[in-house]
Amino acid sequence: MPKEVELFGKKVILRNNICSKDDLNREDKYRTYNLYISITDVCLASCPFCNNNTKKKQTFTDKKFNVEKLKFVLEELKEKNLLNRVSITGGEPFLNVELLNKVVNAIFEVLGYRQYLTINTNGFNLDKVLELDNYKNIAGIHISRHHYLDEKNDQLFGFKTIHLDEIKSLQNKLENKHLLRLNSLLIKNYIDSAENVENYLEMAANLGIFRVGFVGLMPLNEFSKQNYVEYKEIFKNLSPDCAIVSNLKNANICDCANGMYISKDGTLVEFYSRVVRDLNPQAAGQFSYTVENNLCAGFGNIIY
Ligand SMILES: C[S@@+](CC[C@H](N)C(=O)[O-])C[C@H]1O[C@@H](n2cnc3c(N)ncnc32)[C@H](O)[C@@H]1O
Ligand code: SF4
Repeated sequence: MPKEVELFGKKVILRNNICSKDDLNREDKYRTYNLYISITDVCLASCPFCNNNTKKKQTFTDKKFNVEKLKFVLEELKEKNLLNRVSITGGEPFLNVELLNKVVNAIFEVLGYRQYLTINTNGFNLDKVLELDNYKNIAGIHISRHHYLDEKNDQLFGFKTIHLDEIKSLQNKLENKHLLRLNSLLIKNYIDSAENVENYLEMAANLGIFRVGFVGLMPLNEFSKQNYVEYKEIFKNLSPDCAIVSNLKNANICDCANGMYISKDGTLVEFYSRVVRDLNPQAAGQFSYTVENNLCAGFGNIIY
């Protein structure tokens, strides 16, 4: 049974079911929810699978994100014990490091330093992470990188992305070797086979990156529909260097597999794959906070 909560005077229906390895639709009435905060809709890339790539800019001047309203919303979600992980996304969040810094500080100020916070980035300006006041309290920076070869990755993003030598040099400077993680979409002609997945994992091992995600395309546009690659098909063909340790699903909404890879030099890399199969479930399984300063149940249903 979904649960009904009241937020800012509105009734909101939230999913109670949790991920499990069978189809038994297990419930947790104390379930908490991830929050995705989009601090900008501006991006310098032109990824063909993304529906957020219309406003291309190298610099960021928008002043519309309201940090005070975000803090007010965070207070309410905290008060109601509804929050799990928080993730900052965009557009490209590192286009405006000053705003990113303010948002990160605001999140820790309201939710405390034990809050699990991650940032999604295409890697632009990534060395600026060291300038964030709270970078040591951030759990993870998820770098979107959709191929193990720099030139293939640049081609897909439509600009010169952060290259492997630059990621390695940043990784060497960081005390927390678990801060940087890599996320690859599974896309036809990019990472679309077991061999490519293992080449990608080998690259991650060489960079000292401990965790990699392989994410299925959501059908947001024609490109995503036509270039979809099913992780279950790929994972059937992985070599014995990869061990799948769990498969989970959440009703018919999303599913994932989790595993470990042992590299040629014996380094272990965690990996997972997940895909969202129902983009508009009846009850929301997460919150989002948009660049227009709206708190939403799921990704479109405005609450406040
Ligand atoms: C919209 S981006 C914003 C953050 C940053 N610009 C980046 O690319 O990581 C957030 C995440 O959405 C993912 N994404 C974009 N379009 C997608 C699609 N059609 N299906 C699945 N994930 C998608 C990106 O790969 C990225 O991991
Ligand atoms: S870098 Fe991120 S926000 Fe920009 S177009 Fe690509 S997926 Fe979209």
